[in-house]
Amino acid sequence: MSYERQEIAPEAVARQLSICEQIRSLRAGRSALALVDTYGCQQNEADSEKLRGYLAEMGYGFTQDEFQADVVVVNTCAVREHAEMRVFGNVGALNHSKKARPGQIVAVCGCMVQQEHIAQKLKHSYPVVDLVFGPHELWRFPELLKQVMDARERRDERRRVFATAPDEGAVAEGIPLRRDGKVKAWLSIMYGCNNFCTYCIVPYVRGRERSRKPEDVLREARELIEAGYKDITLLGQNVNSYGKDLDCGVDFADLIRMVDAIPGDYVLRFMTSHPKDATEKLFRTMAECPHCAHQLHLPVQSGNDRVLKAMNRSYTRQKYLDQVALARRYMPDLVLTTDIIVGFPGETEEEFADTLSLCEQVRYDAMFTFIYSKRVGTPAASMPDPYTRADKQRHFDALMELSNRISGEKHREYEGKTLRVLIDGETGKSEYNLSSRTGGGRLVHLKGDPSLVGQFVNAKITASNTWALYGEIAL
Ligand code: SAH
Ligand code: SF4
Ligand code: F3S
Repeated sequence: MSYERQEIAPEAVARQLSICEQIRSLRAGRSALALVDTYGCQQNEADSEKLRGYLAEMGYGFTQDEFQADVVVVNTCAVREHAEMRVFGNVGALNHSKKARPGQIVAVCGCMVQQEHIAQKLKHSYPVVDLVFGPHELWRFPELLKQVMDARERRDERRRVFATAPDEGAVAEGIPLRRDGKVKAWLSIMYGCNNFCTYCIVPYVRGRERSRKPEDVLREARELIEAGYKDITLLGQNVNSYGKDLDCGVDFADLIRMVDAIPGDYVLRFMTSHPKDATEKLFRTMAECPHCAHQLHLPVQSGNDRVLKAMNRSYTRQKYLDQVALARRYMPDLVLTTDIIVGFPGETEEEFADTLSLCEQVRYDAMFTFIYSKRVGTPAASMPDPYTRADKQRHFDALMELSNRISGEKHREYEGKTLRVLIDGETGKSEYNLSSRTGGGRLVHLKGDPSLVGQFVNAKITASNTWALYGEIAL
C-alpha cells in the first residue's frame, strides 16, 4: 500500500488549543453547555472523549438534554444501516431543540459523514445541521466550530461548514481528552484499517492504518495509571497490525510488554484482534504479562471457507480453530468472544450450518451477531444476494439461541467460585447495586458499599444467567 504516514505538527494542534481559548474568552464568563451524542464502537467513544476535551477547553459544561445545549455534536457510525437510520432520526428531531433555542449549533461528525452520499443528504435535506466533519478533521474541530460562530457573528445564518474531503488520515498528538469514568479508560494505539473485508465500510471512512508511537502510548498509559485508572483497553480496528507503519521494531506483543512493565494495580485489555495475524508471540505475551487480561475478542465472522474467502478475511475455518487451540494452550482460563455476520450475500443453509458448528466447537463466552447490512461502495454490495430477509432472520435467531445457551452454560461454571474482580460502577438498582468485571471481562453484579467503586475485591459467585454473574463480596 503506497501510503505515506502523516503526522499533524504539534504547532497545528497548539493552534487549535489557542482557538479554544479565544472561544472561551469571547463568552466572557457566561456559562454554556454542550451535548456529545456517540454512536458506534469504542473508537468513536474515544473520539468523543477528544471532542469533549476540546469543548471543556472552550469552557463548556456538559448536559444530556438537547434543550439545554448550546452546542450539540452527533458522532456517528456507518457500520450498519440501522445505526445510520437512528442518526437521521435523532438529527431530524434536533429541529425542536433548535427552535426552542435559536442560537444552538448542531454538528454531525464521525464515520457516517465521511461517505459522500451521506454528506450530500445532510447538506440538502437537514438544514438544522450547521457543521459536518469527518474523522480525519476531528483534530481541527475548534477551528471548524469557530467558523460557524464567526458566521453567526456576521449574521450570516445560512453559512454552513462541511469538512469531509477524502483523506487517508494522519496521527495527531496533544488533543486534550475528557474521559467519562475514573476506573476504565480507552487508549487508542492506532487508527484506520487496511483489511478491506468486502462487507465493511470502516477502511473507506477511517483511512489507512497508522500507529501512535510507542512513547506516546506509554506516556498516556503512565498518566492513566498514575491518575488511578484500573482497567485500560488498548484500541485499534486490528491491533495485531500495530507498528507496521512505524519501522521502529515494536510490534503489538512488544507494546503489551512495554505497557505491562509500568508498575501498579491495573488490568490491561485490548481490542480488536484480526485472526489472520494473531501470533503465538501474542498469546505467549498475554500469558506472561501479569497485568494482561486473559481475554480475547477474535471475530470469526463465519465458519465456512467459501464465505470467509468471499469476505476477504484471509484465514480458513481450520486456521481459526488452530489459533483458538493455541491461545487456550497458553491461557486455559481464556475468555473468548467473537463477532459473526449472518446472511452475507449468497450464504446458503449449509454454509450457515458451518457457522453454527464452529460456535458449538469453540464455545464462546459471548458472541456478537449481526445481520449483514449492505454498505454503499463495498465489494459485497454488488454480490448476488438471493436469500430473503426472513431466511436471514431465521438464521440470526438460531445463532442467538445457541449463543445464549452456551453463554448460560459457561456462566454456570463460575457458580461457587471466588474470583478477583474490579468494581467499576454503580447500577442504580437497590439490590445488586454494584457492577464489576472479572479479569476475563465477565460482568458480575454485587451488593456493597458504593465507596468500593474503583477497587479490586474477591467475589464469590452465587448465581448466574445468560448475560451476567451475581455474587457476594468475600472477605
Ligand atoms: N475491526 C474489527 C471489527 C469492526 S466492526 C474486526 O475486524 O474485528 C464490528 C463488527 O461489525 C464486525 O466484526 C462485523 O461482525 C460487523 N460488521 C461490519 N460490517 C458489517 C456489515 N456490513 N453488516 C453487518 N455487520 C457488519
Ligand atoms: Fe472492517 Fe475487516 Fe477492518 Fe474489521 S478488519 S474494520 S471488519 S475491514
Ligand atoms: Fe462504526 Fe466507525 Fe466504529 S463505522 S463501528 S464508529 S469505526
